[in-house]
Amino acid sequence: MGALTGQVAVVTGATRGIGNAIARRLADEGANLALIGTRQETADAAAAAIAQDTKVQAKGYAVDVSDFAKVNEVISRIIADFGRLDILVNNAGITKDNLLMRMREEEWDAVLAVNLKGAFNCLKAASRTMLKAHYGRIVNIASIVGLSGNAGQCNYAASKAGLVGFSKSLARELASRDITVNVIAPGFIDTDMTAALPQATREALCTQIPMGRCGKPEDVANAVCFLASPAAAYITGQVLCVDGGLAM
Ligand code: NAI
Repeated sequence: MGALTGQVAVVTGATRGIGNAIARRLADEGANLALIGTRQETADAAAAAIAQDTKVQAKGYAVDVSDFAKVNEVISRIIADFGRLDILVNNAGITKDNLLMRMREEEWDAVLAVNLKGAFNCLKAASRTMLKAHYGRIVNIASIVGLSGNAGQCNYAASKAGLVGFSKSLARELASRDITVNVIAPGFIDTDMTAALPQATREALCTQIPMGRCGKPEDVANAVCFLASPAAAYITGQVLCVDGGLAM
């Protein structure tokens, strides 16, 4: 029996990278899983792999988190399918990097729509059920870039800083119902997102990390799992950096 046995967790962007590691870690603790991705086949495949390895109930759902009406439909379907919703991890995120001088309006809008409005959409749909149950664990995945800024990532940094303010406000709104809202701010983590960077940039970034290595998706997943557990009952409105010391 794990600490989350019988609970139901929704993880967005769960088909690969950090989101997939989070879903696996929560499943290891016994949580049943709704995995949200952009394509049904990849969401189904990720769910099937987790169900096979851990024996929890896992199901894939396809939705673009920036679509308010469709997110509402999918979260309602998840609640109908599983009968409850205890944990929501807003992990889906994208980058469209450019210096402000070159940044197109679409690049700004797309990143804010997925990274910030996506979390709003999921929380609007999920919070009612948590309020009724007087229980919930919400973990939003931001970035240390949202705390420190980064040249070439105005849109991304704004979306992640926005998530921090959003989370702290919501933490205040929901605290009296035993619903916690916390933020994980990863540093430089080895995933498809960072694999897109040139090798020289990756190496230069790694030399700045006090621990001398990039993070693994599992490093982030372990921290999320703690904040999503009953053990983290008295922690809310916090930002926890998982970055090997990079942002301290
Ligand atoms: P990734 O690109 O490997 O995975 C992103 C996931 O989000 C994929 O499953 C993708 O299908 C999903 N996704 C993208 N747009 C979506 C949409 N509109 N609707 C639904 N799902 C969507 O990225 P990675 O590296 O695993 O990042 C996960 C989160 O962690 C993101 O929010 C990212 O900003 C954040 N992060 C990552 C860092 C890193 O170094 N990799 C550092 C700091 C934060």
